[in-house]
Amino acid sequence: MKGTLELYRGNLLDVDCDAVVNAANSSLMGGGGVDGAIHRAAGPELKEACRPLAPCPTGEVRVTEGFGLGDRLIFHTVGPVWRGGNEGEAELLASCYRKCLDALIERELTSIVFPAISTGAYGFPVNEAAGVAVHECRPYAKKHDIKITLSAFDQQNATAIEGALESA
Ligand code: APR
Repeated sequence: MKGTLELYRGNLLDVDCDAVVNAANSSLMGGGGVDGAIHRAAGPELKEACRPLAPCPTGEVRVTEGFGLGDRLIFHTVGPVWRGGNEGEAELLASCYRKCLDALIERELTSIVFPAISTGAYGFPVNEAAGVAVHECRPYAKKHDIKITLSAFDQQNATAIEGALESA
């Protein structure tokens, strides 16, 4: 492995990195969960910066400055809403991870922190989401000298990500 892929238990805003991934919705106008935390920390300028970038399709990423987050960039990605698993949800979630990692590499940045995208309001099953996250991130950590952090805000996600990291 040229790079690293690790679990962090807690608030993703506490992780020192180049890029913080936001679990956004297509409007990019903020919300609850991660989205709410990031917009609160970044301040009102973030909403203005996001406005011209919206709508963001599911599985895609839009990049802004961090404003109140200092020199960290914010990668706004829109995860799939879980609708039972037969509507391409897993591939759309995988796309969120790949597009964010491609954006990191394109900008020659070296560290990124993800939340467990879609496992909150969007209802994606935690274990399957952790498997997607690790499966998509591991090849990038192998190929590039980058630090990828998967953050978990609750024990269920932490256990799921730990399990996925051990089994991969
Ligand atoms: N740090 C790390 N993880 C967090 C944090 C935080 N500060 N806050 C929440 N989480 C975790 C949640 O516990 C969950 O496991 O992030 C995961 C994603 O949850 P949500 O934030 O609800 O995101 P998502 O399920 O993708 O739903 C997105 O919710 O907030 C709205 O505007 C957002 O419409 C969008 C939807």
